[in-house]
Amino acid sequence: MAKRNQTLGEFIIENQNAFLYSTGELSKLINAIRLAAKVVNHEVNKAGLIDILGTSGDVNVQGEDQQKLDVLANNKFIQTLSNREIVCGIASEEEDDFVAINSLDKKHQNKYVVLFDPLDGSSNIDVNVSVGTIFSIYRRVTPIGGPVTMEDFLQPGRKQVAAGYIVYGTSTMLVYTTGHGVNGFTLNPAIGTFYLSHPDMKYPEDGQIYSVNEGNYIHFSEGVKKYIKYCQMEEEDRPYTSRYIGSLVSDFHRNMIKGGVFLYPKSSRAKEGKLRLLYECNPMAFLAEQSGGKASDGFHPILDIEPKELHQRVPFFCGSKNMVEKIEEYMKIYG
Ligand code: AHG
Ligand code: MN
Ligand code: MN
Repeated sequence: MAKRNQTLGEFIIENQNAFLYSTGELSKLINAIRLAAKVVNHEVNKAGLIDILGTSGDVNVQGEDQQKLDVLANNKFIQTLSNREIVCGIASEEEDDFVAINSLDKKHQNKYVVLFDPLDGSSNIDVNVSVGTIFSIYRRVTPIGGPVTMEDFLQPGRKQVAAGYIVYGTSTMLVYTTGHGVNGFTLNPAIGTFYLSHPDMKYPEDGQIYSVNEGNYIHFSEGVKKYIKYCQMEEEDRPYTSRYIGSLVSDFHRNMIKGGVFLYPKSSRAKEGKLRLLYECNPMAFLAEQSGGKASDGFHPILDIEPKELHQRVPFFCGSKNMVEKIEEYMKIYG
């Protein structure tokens, strides 16, 4: 039973028992993500300082050029996960291909693969706006003992074992699900511990926020344009409020707490949409469904899509159940 103010470490141990025949491998993996999150949080919080050093053309004490934060976050996560030898493969937004993790003594003995977006919303770093990290975990489908293959990564979101995000915001939070609801933990930076601050999060069924980059309006399909006009109409609880940060993690986090819907449709410029199915949309869709919300490509649940490639893009409508259903109605009629 989740207790407010329980630490994430305690919560992970306690909830391990919820998994039949659990070997603790998933718990170790989530623990490693917890650690990587703290390291990246530390780096993100220094971003302003890094920028100052960067613009003066300085190098760091080791004589290296300052790295871009998304490359840095990518490396920290991959390092933390591979050093602990708890996954057999990793896929990342920042890597063209997946990374197979081989351990010399325990060759390919691990059963999980992780896919992640190391730094989401990275265009917001320079202006001190919240960014995040997104992760998605699957059990491999190829036999343990052999090398991981693309098949292990190209699984429909419905097969996710766990997923979550870290939002580096006014406070840093780690929000995740293992398929038994969604729980949110807030970092106490003074002692470096995550505490359960948002137990059993529930996506409100209805909401009054719509989040979309309206600069792309003329490139949207008829269905999306008409839905946006619907949001702006003066009727009952409308017009809705428009809120768009430009970091999926932050937009999702706010909407899950307040009620709302996030749209990244396809457009005449981005034919398949912009967001990536495997490490952006699927984990968010899993969290949405686990908290009572919904995620769709406009016609079908995101979690049912059979992925074809690692960096595949997909139109994304995610949020309060009734709002996503309303969008699907418009898409069905107008496309
Ligand atoms: P990333 O920084 O990982 O590339 O992701 C950015 C994504 C997402 O976070 C956000 O919702 C979206 O891009 C914003 O796109 P626009 O600037 O086109 O609105
Ligand atoms: Mn992203
Ligand atoms: Mn990214």
